[in-house]
Amino acid sequence: MTRLRAARVGEAGVDLSADAPLVDVDESSLPRRPVRNSAEREGVRFDVRRVRADFPILTERVHGKPLVYLDSANTSQKPEPVLKAMDAYYRHANANIHRATHLLSERATQLYEGARAKAAAFVNAPDLHSIVLTKGTTDGINLVAQSYGRLTLRPGDEIVISWLEHHSNIVPWQILCEQTGATLRVAPINDLGEVDLDAYAALLSPRTKIVAVSHVSNALGTINPVREIIGPAHARGAVVLIDGAQAVPHLPVDVQALDCDFYVFSSHKMFGPTGVGVLYGRPSLLDAMPPYQGGGDMIASVTFEKTCYNVVPYKFEAGTPNIGGVVGFGAAVDYLTSLDREAALAHEDAVLEYATTRLREFPSARVIGEARQKTGVLSFVVEGVHPHDAGTILDREGVAVRTGQHCAQPVMDRYGVAATIRASLGIYNTRGDIDALMRALTRVVEVFA
Ligand SMILES: Cc1ncc(COP(=O)(O)O)c(C=O)c1O
Repeated sequence: MTRLRAARVGEAGVDLSADAPLVDVDESSLPRRPVRNSAEREGVRFDVRRVRADFPILTERVHGKPLVYLDSANTSQKPEPVLKAMDAYYRHANANIHRATHLLSERATQLYEGARAKAAAFVNAPDLHSIVLTKGTTDGINLVAQSYGRLTLRPGDEIVISWLEHHSNIVPWQILCEQTGATLRVAPINDLGEVDLDAYAALLSPRTKIVAVSHVSNALGTINPVREIIGPAHARGAVVLIDGAQAVPHLPVDVQALDCDFYVFSSHKMFGPTGVGVLYGRPSLLDAMPPYQGGGDMIASVTFEKTCYNVVPYKFEAGTPNIGGVVGFGAAVDYLTSLDREAALAHEDAVLEYATTRLREFPSARVIGEARQKTGVLSFVVEGVHPHDAGTILDREGVAVRTGQHCAQPVMDRYGVAATIRASLGIYNTRGDIDALMRALTRVVEVFA
């Protein structure tokens, strides 16, 4: 027997223990990590079998077949610690944050602000106040467009994006252009799916006020050389927003080393729940920006004559946020940072390389997007088969991929295709998953032969 806090929240990675009474717990009932397994004994730094065991959904069967999940760029699956943290939050801490004196509210506030601190460390933000908790990447981009953009842009100013962008990093800027009279300029990509850096530099001018580009393309997997994009933009006096939605699950991110002005990402792409995201903002910019939305918690005082706003980041967090989701997001950050990320990335790269080789050998398949630096995504078409038809047959074989435009219609137009099949990887995917994909693709071709 051992003495533990009653809430047993420690097992969910949630530290509520200080307030819970001590109780006797049979140690054999506690979850534990497996003892050193063969992979560890052999010095393997990333044991994909053990990682897979953390994701209960991966044992699911679909249409009577084992699930092969190759749709993590769409949304990732959630590991046990994230599920447990959210469950523990609702069982032991559920209350509204920042605004009540009772114990549950204190617990909820601690967990919520704890997740902010974890997010700050995750991207090496200079301080906690530079981390705004949002609904996701889309929300973060809209916040910057409507707050910073409307404050600063004048008719004739320009916003530069790239041809690789997700609709979330196109449409908010188009709306802003309509509101302010600014113009949207688009840096082209080459046939490999890489931003043409010379053409990009040629677009920059003293009129450029905002540059907004993805760190990793969701449609092609291209890793953009963001430092080479940020430097020239700063030299022209523009601020730079990096859309990190597809980068954070794969690459370590350091916003200070990147020297970006804004960095946005979503929890659900990095093994956390949906409905939560992060906007990192350079503190001096966030301070000067007006609120995006009005409501509770974003104010210091309200009278009918005048309202004074709360300090950063709270002035950007109007209303009751997704507290349970933020707690799960904090656990997802803990989960990712508990892994050897270099080894995880090496594993993912090896699976991506294997998948690319297998697809190149597949007679009727054509890879779309062959950038020299890629991560996580393999887009392709199979000659003579509409991607949606292929997706339906793949699903019947247990293989989950995304088919369509991937919210990146300009990329599809650039390659002259209506849609692609996109297999996207998470840390839990294996070469076996790729073998299953190839077997299912053979079935696709048989059906349409
Ligand atoms: C590169 C990129 N940017 C933005 C988004 C939008 O993210 P969310 O829907 O989580 O706001 C996505 C989602 O797929 C994405 O891949």
